[in-house]
Amino acid sequence: MVKKIILSIVLLALAIGVKSCQKDPIVLDETSLTPYIIETKAGFPPLRLPSNNPMTEEGVLLGRMLFYDPLLSLDSTISCNSCHFQNRAFAQSTRFSKGIRGQLSPRNSMPLFNLMWQNRFFWDGRALTLREQLLIPIQAHDEMDMNFYDLSIRLKKSERYSPLFKKVFNTTEISPVEITKSLEQFLASIVSFNSKIDQLFGRTDTLNVIDASALRGLNLFMKPVEDGGADCFHCHSNIPFFGNTSLNGSMVNNGLSSVFTDKGLGRITGKPTDEGKFKIPSLRNVELTAPYMHDGRFATLEDVIDFYSDGIKFDSPNLDINISAHNAQLNLSQQEKEDLIAFLKSLTDTEFINNPKYKNPF
Ligand code: HEC
Ligand code: HEC
Repeated sequence: MVKKIILSIVLLALAIGVKSCQKDPIVLDETSLTPYIIETKAGFPPLRLPSNNPMTEEGVLLGRMLFYDPLLSLDSTISCNSCHFQNRAFAQSTRFSKGIRGQLSPRNSMPLFNLMWQNRFFWDGRALTLREQLLIPIQAHDEMDMNFYDLSIRLKKSERYSPLFKKVFNTTEISPVEITKSLEQFLASIVSFNSKIDQLFGRTDTLNVIDASALRGLNLFMKPVEDGGADCFHCHSNIPFFGNTSLNGSMVNNGLSSVFTDKGLGRITGKPTDEGKFKIPSLRNVELTAPYMHDGRFATLEDVIDFYSDGIKFDSPNLDINISAHNAQLNLSQQEKEDLIAFLKSLTDTEFINNPKYKNPF
């Protein structure tokens, strides 16, 4: 017993001794990190936060700095933010994006929010976890073209970053693991659930929240074709998300083309039955994410609705059953088209695009 007490005193003294040697105020122990709390809203499924990567205020801030820093690209000219803009729900308003040498990406940039509820990433769903996804844009030759070996040296030398990595991950080694974990923390923190439609739930005075046209649009969106609806919900369902059935890994062909120049999922799996299948995008904030579809072929929401009204290619291989089953174009009236668009615009979350937590920290 006495021995035990002495041992504890010695250990305590050692601990205090070690502590008092730590003169650098930035080098803090892990316990001084503040857990990052995401405020969720009633009606949303539970958050599926990144495993093995507890989110902290410090980690999220580090990821946010990296997101906005051109240091991550080979010639320090572009950052993630060069193709993902907050006022566009983190998508981009040009059809394709320019990489470090000005080369164009083959696909349209994607919005970034509520990512932790998704099971697949990229238009062709080729990454199954967000962290895995993050390795790709940094190294891609047509994007940032940076290798992790050089990036690690660059960050270790940086007076701005090396103390931050030490603080957040308690290591002086900065490997792809720490880089992607911090970016993952920032991306996981980006959530959007304050559109007009979200304010609708649980209220009976509907017309005080959205107007009559948007309400008619919501009904069209939710109703099967047999009942006079436009049947969008089978794919873009998952209230209150409006769009991420990809939560279950859904990749479908919505009938854009008869012949595929981009095979989507089929290019990844090599299976002819997967050709033309793409990730079902969330329709949240869709008003801000023009142009539309994986190749940005439609400039406006009007163009998208015209396509669903009478432009479906019924001879498209692997056309999804939720469209092929109708066996005819919807031929929406002008009023129905306007109503659907009014509904889609009620999915815009202005609080999200103005949230100071996601802004450029520099
Ligand atoms: C040169 C432009 C460009 C840069 C730089 C860029 N991205 Fe992207 N991002 C895109 C494009 C284009 C896609 C869609 C690519 C595809 O599907 O093949 C995409 C897709 C994504 C996705 C998938 C979203 C989803 O819902 O599946 C995430 C996440 C993402 N980017 C995060 C980042 C991060 C983090 C960085 C910085 C490390 C970054 N991007 C840098 C253009 C860019
Ligand atoms: C069979 C499933 C399916 C149905 C039904 C469906 N969609 Fe889609 N939707 C998709 C897929 C998949 C994409 C992405 C396709 C691509 O880029 O190749 C998409 C893309 C979109 C986009 C573009 C989003 C963006 O960010 O580029 C909008 C807007 C849209 N759909 C609205 C609707 C509306 C409105 C309806 C009902 C009239 C509808 N969808 C019915 C599967 C579907």
